[in-house]
Amino acid sequence: MARKTWSTFNGWLLLLTLLSVQWSVAASNDNGLAQQWGKDYFPNTLLINQDGQQVHFFDDLIKDKVVAINFIFTTCTDSCPLETARLRQVQKLLGDRVGRDVFFYSISIDPETDTPEALKRYAQQFKVGPGWQFLTGNKDDITLLRQKLGLFMKGVDDGETKDHNLSLIIGNQSTGRWMKTSPMENPYVLADRLGKSLHNWKLASTNTNGNADAPSIRPPSVGEQIYRTRCSSCHTLGDTEHAGMRSIGPDLLGVTRQRDPAWLARWIKEPNVMLAEKDPLAMQLYEQYNRLAMPNLRLGDVEIAALLTYLDEQAERLQPPALNNNSQTSN
Ligand code: HEC
Repeated sequence: MARKTWSTFNGWLLLLTLLSVQWSVAASNDNGLAQQWGKDYFPNTLLINQDGQQVHFFDDLIKDKVVAINFIFTTCTDSCPLETARLRQVQKLLGDRVGRDVFFYSISIDPETDTPEALKRYAQQFKVGPGWQFLTGNKDDITLLRQKLGLFMKGVDDGETKDHNLSLIIGNQSTGRWMKTSPMENPYVLADRLGKSLHNWKLASTNTNGNADAPSIRPPSVGEQIYRTRCSSCHTLGDTEHAGMRSIGPDLLGVTRQRDPAWLARWIKEPNVMLAEKDPLAMQLYEQYNRLAMPNLRLGDVEIAALLTYLDEQAERLQPPALNNNSQTSN
C-alpha cells in the first residue's frame, strides 16, 4: 500500500515536472518573440498626433495590432501625395475596419515643419477617414524609429533633399510578422494582406464592395492602365461615392468634353507650372479641392494622348450622346 502511494506520488511528480517543462517552453517562446519583435526591439518613441495627443510608439500604436506605417512630409509635392492617395484607397477598401483592427500611421520626417496642425490639415486635404493617425515628434527619435523599421537608407534618407525611401511597412506585432512593401503596390493586394493574411485569415473581409470595385475583365488599353495606376487613387471616372468616401480630386467623367483640349493636355503634363502661373481655371479648381495641388506625374506626350483617348472612350461608354440629349431636354 505504502509502495503504491509512493509510486502514485512519483507519477504526479513526473507529471508536474513534465507540465512545468511544457510551460517553460511555452514561456520561453513567448519571451523569444517578445524579445525579437517586442518592446525590447521597438522604441517606445513619444509622438504627437494630428489632434495634439501624445502617444507612445510601442505601447499605444503597435502593441498587439495589425498596422501599416509609412514616413511622409506634408510639403512634399511629388511622391508623398501619391503615397497618401494610394494608402487612402487601401483605407477605402478596408472600410470601417481601419481604426478597429487595422491601424494606419504616417509619421513625419520633417517634424519641425509638420506641426500637429499641419498634419491635421494634410489629413483633411486627403479626406482620410478615422483610424489613420498622422504623427510628429523629435527628429532624432523619428530617425531612430526609421532605422529600427528598416526604412532608413544611409546616404538617401539623411541627405539635404529630404529624398526618402518610398516604403511602407505592414505587420502584426503580436505574431511578429512584418513586411516591407511599396505604397504604390496594388491597393487590392495591400488591403488583402492587412485585412486577411496578417490576421492569419482569422477574420473574413466584411467588405463586399471589393469585387464590385475591382477592374473589369476587358483587357485594359494603355490609357486605362495609366489611369488605373497613376490617377485612380485621387480621381473617379463616373464611379463616385464608393465605400462612402469622396475622392480627393474631381470626377473626370466627361472632362474631355468640358475642357479645351490644349488646356487639358497641358494640365496633365505640368499642373505645378500652371498653378505657379496662376492659370485662372487651375486656381479655381485648386481652391475648390482643399488647396491640394495635383502632383506633376511626369508623363510624356504619348502617355497623355493615350490617357485622353481613354477618358474620351469612357465618357462614350458611360455617357452616350443619346443620353446627354435626353438629359438636356429634360432640363
Ligand atoms: C494626389 C492626387 C492626384 C493624382 C494622383 C492625380 N490628380 Fe488630377 N487632380 C487632383 C486635384 C486635387 C485636382 C484639383 C485641382 C488642384 O487642386 O490642383 C485635380 C484636377 C485634375 C483635372 C482637372 C479637372 C477639371 O475639372 O478640369 C484633371 C483633368 C486631372 N486632375 C487629371 C488627372 C489625371 C489624368 C491623373 C493621372 C495621370 C491625375 N489627375 C492624377 C489630384 C490628383
